[in-house]
Amino acid sequence: MQIINSAKDMQRYSDALRQQNKRVAVVPTMGYLHEGHLSLVRIAREHADTVIVTIFVNPTQFGPNEDYKSYPRDWDRDVKLVTSSGADCIYAPEPVEMYPEGYQTSVRVDKLTQHLCGIVRPTHFEGVTTVVTKLFNATKPHVAVFGEKDFQQLQVIRRMVRDLDMDIEIIGAPIVREPDGLAMSSRNKYLSAEERKAAQVLSRALFEIRDMCAQGEHDALKLSQHVWQNISTEPLAKIDYIKICDLETLEDVTRIRRNAVVALAVFFGKTRLIDNIILKTA
Ligand code: PAJ
Repeated sequence: MQIINSAKDMQRYSDALRQQNKRVAVVPTMGYLHEGHLSLVRIAREHADTVIVTIFVNPTQFGPNEDYKSYPRDWDRDVKLVTSSGADCIYAPEPVEMYPEGYQTSVRVDKLTQHLCGIVRPTHFEGVTTVVTKLFNATKPHVAVFGEKDFQQLQVIRRMVRDLDMDIEIIGAPIVREPDGLAMSSRNKYLSAEERKAAQVLSRALFEIRDMCAQGEHDALKLSQHVWQNISTEPLAKIDYIKICDLETLEDVTRIRRNAVVALAVFFGKTRLIDNIILKTA
């Protein structure tokens, strides 16, 4: 397992692979890896000769009152997991390498970032698109894999890549869930035993309306009310948003025509969980 900490070394590593006509994939992560992340590595493997996993807890995508400092980290465990996942290289820059003194450049996607999580996290996606651009510039991938778990993030990155003519194929990977349905997330670690149990309500509510939609209920208001009521029965859940929106524009829809996404953010105590599911009319 090759571990690289500087952008220059990372570029040299990728340049050498590209000269040998090898296809390079990158899986960007913030570490504290779980099966969701590892599934992305396996998908990346199917599309490339060499898979680079990046591990960097990016300070600029956390708001001032968010969990940057307490975000879970476990370097040794992550290295073991990446090694056993079949990836070839870890790129793990330090914050001062990423954002040295005098740093002043950012990448911003406009409209897509103003919906869903962008409303309560107004600076989040600019942090994400900037760091992902830097990770792309360092790793020089042909292909990059992102999870549908962060559906808005995936769409924002697709938009950025199209808009800025980045020559990188973006692959979306399905959400990996715990046996009881909870979407895997590094932040699940924050949940108390009661909150963890209560959080089951999210996937249950989402699966129910996916089935309702497939069976002919296409009224978005009725479907989102159903999720809202379902989640509200759980006293530990505090809803941030529940939205049914167009897959591409992320704008609210009133009727499901072909497909749409229902996306939600719900607090359990201090922990904000997100989840989503694609609704299909048939
Ligand atoms: P992080 O939350 O570590 O997630 C890294 C990647 O794993 C993202 O593409 C995310 O969608 C995917 N992922 C997380 N949980 C998943 C699950 N249960 N099933 C499938 N995929 C899952 O997302 C970030 O880091 C950062 O914003 C990043 C893109 C690295 C930029 O800093």
